Amino acid sequence: MSQSQQNKWALITGASSGIGLELARIHAAAGGHLAIAARRESKLAELKEELEGRHGVKVMTFACDLSRPGAATQLYEDIKAASIKVDYLINNAGFGGHGKFHERDWEADAQMINLNILALAELTRRFLPDFVARNSGRILNVSSTAGEVPGPLQAVYYASKAFVTSFSNAIAEELSDTNITVTSLKPGYTETEFADAAHLRSTRLVSGGGATAASVAQDGYDAMLAGQLNRISGMGLSQRIQLAMAPMAPRKMLLKQIRQLQEG
Ligand SMILES: NC(=O)c1ccc[n+]([C@@H]2O[C@H](COP(=O)([O-])OP(=O)(O)OC[C@H]3O[C@@H](n4cnc5c(N)ncnc54)[C@H](OP(=O)(O)O)[C@@H]3O)[C@@H](O)[C@H]2O)c1
Repeated sequence: MSQSQQNKWALITGASSGIGLELARIHAAAGGHLAIAARRESKLAELKEELEGRHGVKVMTFACDLSRPGAATQLYEDIKAASIKVDYLINNAGFGGHGKFHERDWEADAQMINLNILALAELTRRFLPDFVARNSGRILNVSSTAGEVPGPLQAVYYASKAFVTSFSNAIAEELSDTNITVTSLKPGYTETEFADAAHLRSTRLVSGGGATAASVAQDGYDAMLAGQLNRISGMGLSQRIQLAMAPMAPRKMLLKQIRQLQEG
């Protein structure tokens, strides 16, 4: 059980399902208040009812499409207008997509870049000056083990997560003389709506099953509170060793292996 988070506000993007929803449950169970954002208003409303009823915390919902230009800044302004002082910024919203880059719908990949990279960086840029001014706050950016390697047949998604980890680690160092921490959570495959949204159901990556969203969320939440730089979650020892060895493997061989994982 996490330490008490009474009166601490967490903003969680992508809280309508999967890892984000479980992060919201964990924070509420620890007594914290929540600002939750995603596109599906009805799912956010259901979660609000569940968490307010069960834990007596405040939950405010912000239905928005964060892949739209300016949406992240609008969300920041809406949160300021609601007089919410965010203690924990959890950038979790994200999606993937399967297929050869040149055959994929460009609009879908552009939206992926807008959400996975731009919205995450924009929200961080908006909230960080407030955190710095009061010398407190924690940021949890949900990256992926996909960020450690290039991902043929999911080229944009893997590259977007490489951005998330690199960016998170770099600003963590910039903030190392403050009380503010930035954590990059790197889950392996996790059972959520992600695989369906990314059309990955028939691939080897997914067919072996994955971690539960609840266990990954707990790992991420604990790592955030501990101020850890990086946390890999939902992977066994042999997978962790393979991941650690990946940069040393011959690049062409590695690319072929990763491609095979994304194939049916
Ligand atoms: N599942 C995995 O295997 C895995 C592994 C590593 C990393 N991750 C990362 O974990 C994070 C959470 O994914 P998940 O696995 O929990 O998948 P999920 O169940 O599909 O959840 C994704 C969340 O992002 C929200 N979202 C999607 N597009 C959005 C948009 N345009 N604007 C605002 N919110 C949006 C979704 O809500 P709405 O549809 O209501 O907008 C949903 O709440 C993602 O960043 C993902 O890349 C997942």
